[in-house]
Amino acid sequence: MPMNLFLDYQQKVQTRKAALLESLQRLLPTHDGWKTLEIGCGHGDFLVHYAQQYPDRFCFGIDLLAHRLASATRKAQRAEVKNSCFLQASAEEFLECQPSSVFWNEVFILYPDPWPKRRHHKHRLLQSEFFTLLAARMVPRGCVYFETDDVAYREAVIKNVEQHPRWILVDREPYVVDTVFSRRMGQGQQLIFQCQNREDKSA
Ligand SMILES: C[S@@+](CC[C@H](N)C(=O)[O-])C[C@H]1O[C@@H](n2cnc3c(N)ncnc32)[C@H](O)[C@@H]1O
Repeated sequence: MPMNLFLDYQQKVQTRKAALLESLQRLLPTHDGWKTLEIGCGHGDFLVHYAQQYPDRFCFGIDLLAHRLASATRKAQRAEVKNSCFLQASAEEFLECQPSSVFWNEVFILYPDPWPKRRHHKHRLLQSEFFTLLAARMVPRGCVYFETDDVAYREAVIKNVEQHPRWILVDREPYVVDTVFSRRMGQGQQLIFQCQNREDKSA
């Protein structure tokens, strides 16, 4: 890439991250109450329903696509749900920019893009680096609920969790999930993994 285009690109990324940081400082609560994050929330079907079920939990959804977030926000408004909020952001930039005082009790990742072709696996969200970034943003023993219909992605995630020093798979009651993609793909299975202090996993 020519140097001027590279610098231009870097400038855009910096501007976007500064705007994201400003939004997150404004939107994320500073209290110690329960906080739930959904990454790749799509049209918000799951999170709006969840926020209705748990009105005392702050529910935050992020996605790359603005029109899906607009649909999620409309759903929350129609249902008069006051404890949910949606923002356009990539998971990677979100985790990098979110205030270091905010820790998540639960994170949902439902039907993330599976990138089934081997040469596209590098685009999958749940990889070792992502697990490390997320661990730094969780309360101790906070859980991730991951659901997919893609058997190969599921197996790759199990391997990642087993090899990661901060995460373990746990046997817990799964949440019932009803989203655009769960309806479209069907046959999904949920994995639940829990964030550990470094000592816990080696114990
Ligand atoms: C297959 S859809 C699933 C949407 C929703 N969870 C559902 O089950 O209906 C995957 C979603 O993840 C979003 N997404 C993909 N990569 C992302 C990333 N890096 N950060 C945030 N969202 C992402 C996409 O825009 C898309 O809405």
